[in-house]
Amino acid sequence: MTNELETSLVPAPKPATLRLFFALWPEESVKAKMAGWARRAQERTGGRLMHPDNLHLTLAFLGDTPADQVERIKAAAARVSPRTFDWELDTVGHWNHNHIVWAGTTAVSEPLALLVTELRTALMQAEIVFDAKAFVPHITLVRNARHVAVLPDWKPLRWRVNGFALVKSVRTDEGSRYVNAAEWPGIETKAER
Ligand code: 2AM
Repeated sequence: MTNELETSLVPAPKPATLRLFFALWPEESVKAKMAGWARRAQERTGGRLMHPDNLHLTLAFLGDTPADQVERIKAAAARVSPRTFDWELDTVGHWNHNHIVWAGTTAVSEPLALLVTELRTALMQAEIVFDAKAFVPHITLVRNARHVAVLPDWKPLRWRVNGFALVKSVRTDEGSRYVNAAEWPGIETKAER
């Protein structure tokens, strides 16, 4: 029999956690173009290329989350009605503060801003914790890029958004891989046909 003192000394098992974020995945052609440009950029800047299958746009970052919250998170996301839309990756850049080379936009398009606002509002209403930093749409292509260099020319790319996903980061021998935990397809509106 254990007394009260002994019980309090036994460490409680840590709850299982998942590293989660909401994201958009690019179509194959957009992914291939970004990966090709990233290889050329990385030759100039150095650093670590992102695996092409990991290229994504983060909409909301949840980070390490207790596994037993996943159903609540999915229920919150299911309240969002994602419309299909196009957005344009019209620029690339190199941030000095975090040594990232990225592709992104000069201005956030309205449908993209709406999707992020709807999703983040649904998460807040469900009291789900996420990183509430302002949304700066970018796709990280190279990390630890420490050489400041003139980046290769970039041709704007159109990305068809057709739904969003809850993604979990899985550690493998080759680094982190991102795998969908759930996805919500886009809803096509008449105006877009
Ligand atoms: P980044 O590429 O600019 O680092 C998985 O880590 C994804 O979540 C990446 O797209 C990453 O953006 C993004 N992310 C957003 N906020 C984050 C945070 N506070 N910590 C780690 N990753 C974050």
